[in-house]
Amino acid sequence: MKTLSTPDEARQFTRALRANGKRVGLVPTMGALHAGHLSLVDQSQRHCDATIATIFVNPTQFAATEDLSCYPRTLEQDYEMLAAAGVAAVFVPQNEAMYPPGFSTYVEPPEVARTLEGNCRPEHFRGVTTVVMKLFHAVPADCAFFGKKDYQQWKVIQAMSRDLDVGIDVIACEIIREPDGLALSSRNRYLDPSERHRALRLSAALKDVEQAIAAGERDAATLQDRMRQTLVSGDGVHQIDYAVIVNADTLVPLANLDRPAVALIAARVGQTRLIDNKELCVDLGSPSSR
Ligand code: PAF
Repeated sequence: MKTLSTPDEARQFTRALRANGKRVGLVPTMGALHAGHLSLVDQSQRHCDATIATIFVNPTQFAATEDLSCYPRTLEQDYEMLAAAGVAAVFVPQNEAMYPPGFSTYVEPPEVARTLEGNCRPEHFRGVTTVVMKLFHAVPADCAFFGKKDYQQWKVIQAMSRDLDVGIDVIACEIIREPDGLALSSRNRYLDPSERHRALRLSAALKDVEQAIAAGERDAATLQDRMRQTLVSGDGVHQIDYAVIVNADTLVPLANLDRPAVALIAARVGQTRLIDNKELCVDLGSPSSR
């Protein structure tokens, strides 16, 4: 596995692969890799001839009050995992290579960035769109793989890529969960055993909504109430940023589940902010569901 340090180096490596007829997959990460990231690599390996992963803890997507300085960094372990997964190269730039002195150009995020995470973390998506566009230029791949765990991020990157004619297929991969339902996240390692137990309320709330829908409930307000009740029940999760059911594409709130929808939760467990979501299957064909 080759290690690439500068955007120029990464671009030359990618272009050489593509000039040799290889289909290249890009897996952007901030490191602290887990099985969720490896599932993105796996999808890339299935779709493409060569995979290039990136590891860069992007400072512009963290607010001053957030966990940039203590964001988990496990570089040696990350290299081992990527090499074992058969990745062709890993692009690991330093901050100065991505944001040299005088850097002042940012990518304005699309409309879908304005809600939810965009409200809670106002600068976040500008940092994400900017760094992802820079990674797309550094690694001009055929496809790029993102996890649905960051559902809104996926929608933001999809819209940006479409609006700016990026020419890289954005492919979203399913959430990977622990056997007890906890969605994998680099931030899970911050949770102590009692917080980890409480964190299960997020996946429980999503499962509960799914069950209510299967039983025929279609009213979004009722379903959102249920989600909140499940989140706070017992010694549950009380600092909820949002627990909503929205249009699966635009993330605009829904009154009824009469179109593809997604339930999204962001909540703090102790000091750790967790997000989770579930795409909601509703039979849109049956008149009773309209
Ligand atoms: O999802 C992440 O790990 C990051 O937001 C990304 C897409 C690598 C950009 O820094």
